[in-house]
Amino acid sequence: MSISILPIAAGNPDYRDAGLEFAPDFLIGSATAAYQIEGAVSEDGRGPSIWDTFSHTPGRIVAGDTGDVADDHYHRLESDLDLMASLGLEAYRFSIAWPRIQPLGSGAANQAGLDFYGRLVDGLLARGIRPIATLYHWDLPQALEDAGGWTNRETAYRFAEYAAIVGTALGDRVPTWTTLNEPWCSAYLGYGSGAHAPGRTEPLAALRSVHHLNLAHGLALTALRATVTSEAEFSATLNFHVIRGDHPTSPEAIRRIDALANRSFTGPMLSGAYPADLLEDTAAITDWSFVLPGDLAIIHQPIDFLGVNYYSTATVRMWDGVGSRQNADGHKDVGGSPWPGSEHVEFLMQDGPYTAMGWNIAPDGLEELLVALHEAHPGLPLVITENGAAFDDTVDDGRVDDAERVDYLRRHFTAAHRAIERGVDLRGYLVWSLLDNFEWGYGFSKRFGIVHVDYDTQVRTVKESGRWLARLIARHVIPD
Ligand code: FCB
Repeated sequence: MSISILPIAAGNPDYRDAGLEFAPDFLIGSATAAYQIEGAVSEDGRGPSIWDTFSHTPGRIVAGDTGDVADDHYHRLESDLDLMASLGLEAYRFSIAWPRIQPLGSGAANQAGLDFYGRLVDGLLARGIRPIATLYHWDLPQALEDAGGWTNRETAYRFAEYAAIVGTALGDRVPTWTTLNEPWCSAYLGYGSGAHAPGRTEPLAALRSVHHLNLAHGLALTALRATVTSEAEFSATLNFHVIRGDHPTSPEAIRRIDALANRSFTGPMLSGAYPADLLEDTAAITDWSFVLPGDLAIIHQPIDFLGVNYYSTATVRMWDGVGSRQNADGHKDVGGSPWPGSEHVEFLMQDGPYTAMGWNIAPDGLEELLVALHEAHPGLPLVITENGAAFDDTVDDGRVDDAERVDYLRRHFTAAHRAIERGVDLRGYLVWSLLDNFEWGYGFSKRFGIVHVDYDTQVRTVKESGRWLARLIARHVIPD
């Protein structure tokens, strides 16, 4: 994102401020996603998703882990709701598993699936926790992948039908809706690099998927607006790449990655056009003729806020062709490239400290991102829909002393506060994640929770970071 023109807020250079206060209506909570926590993959009529197929394919996931059981949240709904209440969460962001609602991705609704999310929403409301429902957090029904998945335009129309079913069933009481979570990952990791389901490695398929996901977002907004009966907010969540570099070729590399990673979604969604430089950079792969007349008007609809997921930064330059290309882009390296047309951009190792994912800890990147988004899209409210960190936690005497995660959260909440002081309309902050869970290609080897999960016993232990967040929420002040 671009360098800011707004004044820099004062404060500790290390972002370890204490005592900063958030407004009473600033929403603080936590987030999860269906496949990562629910388990119960063959119960109550749920159909298979691309993540079931992918995780059961040998070699795809660290240690052969699958989401078959995960956190067993499907069976532990009531006690997990009580856990959220005990932390004082003001909001809970969850995703709805499409294959629970339409096991084959089309046709009639599976009532048992709708009932599960009805119980979740009612349980949240009864505890005073605001439900934030995401329609798609990557678990595409396998039957739709068999028909081409996101490379097939039809999938966007199936998604709109699914959105209408869910909007009709839950639209009287879910106040906040998100269409897609991180379409960047769905398109470029799912169809480009192959690190995510369905594991395809075709540059053209990745770009077609970008457009069909954007179209799905627009069609789903229309479907939700037609079916939701309460005063609801509508949004999409993007994972922004905050890109840096001080090599003479870095500006070109930054421009290319910004186009693929960020502007291929913000362009159509927020400005009604694909960026000209994106089309040029990818011209050898496609002429983008899969963008049909009228599509951009469908995609470019008002949203009430933009969901921002942020974890770390990237540092880039153009590869000079000498030696091996550094590939430290933070995504699991399985051989394919998630950067169609810009495979010759080099991602350099960055300064630490790092989380257990190997991601650099850079709270200044979050401040820079929020300010840059605010400048580029004035008047568009923002919500941090994910931020958090994996560390190698252990339980000792019933305690998880995750001081590094507390420090990570302190520094990122400080960054969010500074962005607000600089005029950004930031409405909330949802920590990833409530529970340790199935971290996609890394399986259960990476723990992001503010609550520890013992996968043998399913015992939940609130980590020190969970207690810290509860104190933050109780007073709306960053604790000492
Ligand atoms: C994001 C995903 C989320 C989780 C975090 C660590 O990309 O949306 O499900 O895996 O990363």
